[in-house]
Amino acid sequence: MSFKNLDTLYRQVIMDHYKNPRNKGVIEDSDLSINMNNPTCGDRIQLSLKIEDGIVVDAKHEGEGCSISMSSASMMTQAIIGKKVEEALELAKIFSEMMLGKEIDSDLDLGDIEALSGVCKFPARIKCATLAWKAMEKGIREAK
Ligand code: FES
Repeated sequence: MSFKNLDTLYRQVIMDHYKNPRNKGVIEDSDLSINMNNPTCGDRIQLSLKIEDGIVVDAKHEGEGCSISMSSASMMTQAIIGKKVEEALELAKIFSEMMLGKEIDSDLDLGDIEALSGVCKFPARIKCATLAWKAMEKGIREAK
């Protein structure tokens, strides 16, 4: 499926995160390490998080996937570093709502994640965009 219909600026942001991923790698002494794959294509992500005093102090991602999944992982890690765990979960909820095409009204700094808002028009790719977020949510909820 082509993303030609996505807004040009948003497409540029997505491709920038894909080609120059932020927070790529694995945290050796992580507090949480989560592996998750997209059942529709088999692509996978490994997410590692470092949490201190209820704050996400570091987040890294590794894996293979399409431009949407990998750029989303990059944006997600960028958005949650420095946030409280509850805020990271709130961001995951906001992102899910964005994928349903809902308007977003939040005081939280969303970083670049709005660039993925147009993915809601491509239902087959929503699982790509949410992969990293689901991994983050699963890891945090299981650790609680
Ligand atoms: Fe596999 Fe997007 S096609 S994650």
